[in-house]
Amino acid sequence: MSTDAGPNELLDMSSPELKQQSYALLDRQLQSLLAGERDCIANLAQFSALVFQAVPGLNWAGFYLLRDARLVLGPFQGKVACVRIPVGRGVCGACAESLEVQLVPDVHAFPGHIACDSASNSELVLPVLVDGRLAAVFDLDSPQLARFDELDAQGFQAMVSTLVAGTDWP
Ligand code: SME
Repeated sequence: MSTDAGPNELLDMSSPELKQQSYALLDRQLQSLLAGERDCIANLAQFSALVFQAVPGLNWAGFYLLRDARLVLGPFQGKVACVRIPVGRGVCGACAESLEVQLVPDVHAFPGHIACDSASNSELVLPVLVDGRLAAVFDLDSPQLARFDELDAQGFQAMVSTLVAGTDWP
């Protein structure tokens, strides 16, 4: 895969084996992409773009950063989104509060879900922990119901670990 955006760049995740191979490839591509650059905004922007251009079935991928005990919109790909989310509200807020991955097969069944894009039907949110403290959450939305499973969560967790290790956090 080149770094050009476009529908031809989507990875084949149509079986569990292909999905695991795809995330392993993406993690290697991420390591190359971040090599020699530790700027937080640059790396979060590159991370969002790489995921959005390569992972099938997404309509939004990006970060909410923890600022003064609230989540504030960070680098992302997709439609414009809500800017500030209190910790504890919605799927992102639940992730920030619990520090646990939120895998939501149907967002309409999630109490307090914040609908930024009415096209979204399922969601995956991962905590970004730096030295054990929450720095951000990484949020993925899909128009497909139950788009995300444990393999997606594991794949993105590995990539988030690569991002955390390769970035200077303010
Ligand atoms: N749906 C999220 C809000 C963020 S947008 O999806 C980009 C939530 O409930 O936290």
